[in-house]
Amino acid sequence: PVIAFVTGGYSGEAEISYKSAITIEKNIDTSKFDLYKIDIRTDGWWYVPESGQPVEVDKNDFSLTLAQRKITFDAVLIGIHGTPGEDGKLQGYFDMQGIPYTSCDAASSALTFNKRYTVAVAAFAGINVARSLHLFRDRKIDAATISGQLSLPVFVKPNNGGSSIGMSKVNQSADMQAALDKAFREDDQVLVEEFISGREFTIGVFRHNGEVVTLPFTEVIAKNEFFDFEAKYQGKSEEITPAVVDDAIAEKVRAAARKVYQVFNCRGVIRIDFIYNEEKGVPYMLEINTVPGQSEASIVPQQVRAMGWTLQEFYSSLIDDALA
Ligand code: DAL
Ligand code: MG
Repeated sequence: PVIAFVTGGYSGEAEISYKSAITIEKNIDTSKFDLYKIDIRTDGWWYVPESGQPVEVDKNDFSLTLAQRKITFDAVLIGIHGTPGEDGKLQGYFDMQGIPYTSCDAASSALTFNKRYTVAVAAFAGINVARSLHLFRDRKIDAATISGQLSLPVFVKPNNGGSSIGMSKVNQSADMQAALDKAFREDDQVLVEEFISGREFTIGVFRHNGEVVTLPFTEVIAKNEFFDFEAKYQGKSEEITPAVVDDAIAEKVRAAARKVYQVFNCRGVIRIDFIYNEEKGVPYMLEINTVPGQSEASIVPQQVRAMGWTLQEFYSSLIDDALA
């Protein structure tokens, strides 16, 4: 099969997408798949052949013309974190082209990219989530009102985004306004969410031969105050894969993860972040990442190895699932 691997993207997470691309390209079974890497940038969608002269994708039918030969694709491997690869936009475009892809569909991607809508739907399905407020740029709530409605500490996050960009933890009301300003610099919507105490677990879930499979999950111990950008990508956190937990806890996390995958009608690999609160004995879902990082430092590759698979087997399985 001829596969387009899309990387890059239009957001601040593009640099993370390029890191993921290094791992993915290295681990594609080229005896099975004919892979074309396409860099989706604001200045165009480009394929760079070995000769070096970039060739632009024809967006009318998502094709490439190389040496007068037209190339079309059997499936797309989506490796873009953030817009337009994780929020449903490219998914909608590929649906219109009739080309299958490795991620959740357009509706599920758009829904899960919106952190507030994600927790609202999850709560409706009986999944535990933190209490939160949804703020809009033109309907801001002042810092004092927020402190009155939620208990501190809270997390203030751009509502649509990833990699903890623009996010803060607020321990005292005096710091609320600065946190809101920072988040609104990234997004027109902001989520203010109560802090849940407990152990942070993150779990990859994918579909293999039609079955939902949970990967051995990770405990994240941030050395910074939370699992922020620096903790994620500059080694300022300890990640234990597989997490060392009692079977009963492990089963609750896996069951919640499978339920999330099904409720949100997911496809491909997703990674769900949870806080396991020990007093209540339940996992709280924080968010869903429908295009989780694949860089050397990222968690899903660690979990795949912990399961005893090679990354090559894993990426082949994702592409096979899209083609099926
Ligand atoms: N948003 C980053 C890439 C992740 O979830 O892994
Ligand atoms: Mg995320």
